[in-house]
Amino acid sequence: MQKFSNRQREGGRTIALVPTMGYLHKGHLSLMVEGRKRADILIISIFVNPTQFGKGEDYQEYPRDLTRDKKLAREAGVDIIFAPKTSLMYPPDYQTWVEVREVTRNLCGASRPGHFQGVTTVVAKLFNIIKPHIALFGEKDFQQLVTIKRMAADLNFDIKILGMPTVRENDGLAMSSRNTYLSPRERESALSLSRSLRRARELVSSGERNTTRVIEEIKGIIGKEKLINIDYIKICDTDNLKELKKIDRKAVMALAAKLGQTRLIDNCILKP
Ligand code: PAJ
Repeated sequence: MQKFSNRQREGGRTIALVPTMGYLHKGHLSLMVEGRKRADILIISIFVNPTQFGKGEDYQEYPRDLTRDKKLAREAGVDIIFAPKTSLMYPPDYQTWVEVREVTRNLCGASRPGHFQGVTTVVAKLFNIIKPHIALFGEKDFQQLVTIKRMAADLNFDIKILGMPTVRENDGLAMSSRNTYLSPRERESALSLSRSLRRARELVSSGERNTTRVIEEIKGIIGKEKLINIDYIKICDTDNLKELKKIDRKAVMALAAKLGQTRLIDNCILKP
């Protein structure tokens, strides 16, 4: 992979990377479409990264279908799929970790200890293996995007990190490989997540600035759904992810919830 990328760079060609864990959906494809426009060579990685899954999480069950992914990637104009074996990424003597501190403490970082260390470590490795000029990530995983931007700046990666808007189903549900776990009744309940975010935006555009009041209203909407257990609903500064008392600058409303064993996240931007 490194030799291939070196040859492209020597030939003056630019490389775009879209890192994924596979089981591709339209959210992933939107990153590929943009990557295709922005570089000469489009590479995606497909790797279900064990180090970002906690104990008791869904590493074993995570959906995998490389044959289907290959077809979708080809249709999206991908040049290369990098899909390494786990033992090549993490040989038995592996012992190096990348940790981004402050921005990973809150939100999913608090609920999933070690998760972001797994993400930043594997993404740093992918950057060094694939040597892209630009890498594309979804705003759906907002904290991940902020964390990777922080890592790239702090560790001087010479790579442009581009965030892309969340792609949703027609009914509003944010696309996710994990949506396949949902039963029809759970999926119906899950719609309250995106519905409540839309309501939050309405509240803010009609002048509400108090985060507690917005959060209480949103908790009320989601709380009506018996199948949903809320993990967190928070309103944070989009740059440092610190919680805000007032929506007096660009903010992100981020939430995580469990439906049965399935953990879903979603977010929206709130602008005063
Ligand atoms: P994965 O969940 O497969 O997501 C790969 C990329 O697709 C991420 O940048 C994610 O934010 C983006 N994405 C997912 N759903 C999206 C949606 N509905 N709309 C727009 N973009 C969406 O995120 C990971 O994998 C991993 O943590 C990874 C970065 C690959 C490291 O292992």
